[in-house]
Amino acid sequence: MRMYDIIAKKRDGNELSEQEIQFFIDGYVKGNIPDYQASALMMAIYLHGMTEQETANLTMCMARSGEMVDLSSIDGVKVDKHSTGGVGDKTTLIIAPIVASLGVRVAKMSGRGLGHTGGTVDKMESIPGMKTDLDRKTFFNIVRKVGVSVIGQSGNLVPADKKLYALRDVTATIESIPLIASSIMSKKIAAGSDCILLDVKTGSGAFMKTVEDSIQLAKAMVSIGEHVGRRTVALITDMDRPLGSAIGNSLEICEVCETLKNRGPKDLTAICVELAANMLFLAGHGELSTCRELAKAQISNGAAFQKLREMVAAQGGDVSVLDDNSKFAQAAVRREIKARKTGFIHAMNTEQCGIASVELGAGREKKEDPIDYCAGIILQKKVGDQVKAGETIATFYTSSEQKCNEAEQLFQNAVTIGTEPPASVPLLHARVTKDGVEQH
Ligand code: URA
Repeated sequence: MRMYDIIAKKRDGNELSEQEIQFFIDGYVKGNIPDYQASALMMAIYLHGMTEQETANLTMCMARSGEMVDLSSIDGVKVDKHSTGGVGDKTTLIIAPIVASLGVRVAKMSGRGLGHTGGTVDKMESIPGMKTDLDRKTFFNIVRKVGVSVIGQSGNLVPADKKLYALRDVTATIESIPLIASSIMSKKIAAGSDCILLDVKTGSGAFMKTVEDSIQLAKAMVSIGEHVGRRTVALITDMDRPLGSAIGNSLEICEVCETLKNRGPKDLTAICVELAANMLFLAGHGELSTCRELAKAQISNGAAFQKLREMVAAQGGDVSVLDDNSKFAQAAVRREIKARKTGFIHAMNTEQCGIASVELGAGREKKEDPIDYCAGIILQKKVGDQVKAGETIATFYTSSEQKCNEAEQLFQNAVTIGTEPPASVPLLHARVTKDGVEQH
């Protein structure tokens, strides 16, 4: 077999066989196929797409390119969850304890912040002492004992994706549905859970800017999961506004605690109930409506917050900051950001809000940059709210006035204030299962 012929076949719009895809993945991971041939193939896939069968084959060849985590020694149904990334998205740390408190096992590997989006691992590391780099044995034991553990991606998981993602990033081939779907699903399949819930974000803060594109991506991922025997459901959720009120690592942990104490922002609580209900549904806990009630009850009876405490303690974290959020280190500089005019908030460009929080120190501009765990933004006003000129719409937390000045400019430009109330936009746009798409 020759790589040249595989490229030519895809260039001409034909379907690649499983053997051809396997040949490419093996050769590329081993270094026998150079980047220039891999880039030519990525571009041909970008331009011609892939059939469902090809996408499933690509996903499985990628998943098998490294370690496949075997969770079979842990009893019970294991459910994983993946978010395509957003601003203020702290849902994992709320829903994993909810479902674990009902006996669903969650052995989750999460990522760090990327660009304007935050990452669960960075948020967790804002808790003093919290370890996210556990070895497999400790990770499994915590899942057995507590029911849930969240760690960083470790081991030799999907090396094919590491190489291909870096290549796509510099060859303008990221925005391809079969390539994104196989990249995400290969990692979820290699991580070993029985069922997968996908939270596909849509809007100005997301990868996929329109609901239609998000549904196409969700359909591709659900089809791959079901094809290889993992029950998979995707929710299309809104990322045209930051989720909840907090953006930034320890600020978001405080909001996680508030939400699990039943005092969280309405939008965040509603989305978490929906996500948790779908994880419970996948794990066989009954109809979706029953699962919703179960999830709500675990928040109001305190069981989910207790589960978060247990997980944090098991991973070496200081639980006293969860009980009393004022024990978190505090930012040296605080600034209230005022509305420039009177009216209604029509939009908050979510990507720009994310970039403003990175400017404040909550994220990294370069891979090796340190994070300021107490930096970030609390939104006092959200899309749809009425504001008066001069009223506080947000508070910034950071280490210097200069960072505040730069971030304020970005944030003010991200906020649009109009004279009439804006049309309301749903938080949940659609649900995609193997049976089809339910639009909300
Ligand atoms: N996230 C991934 O893991 N892979 C992609 O290709 C895009 C987003």
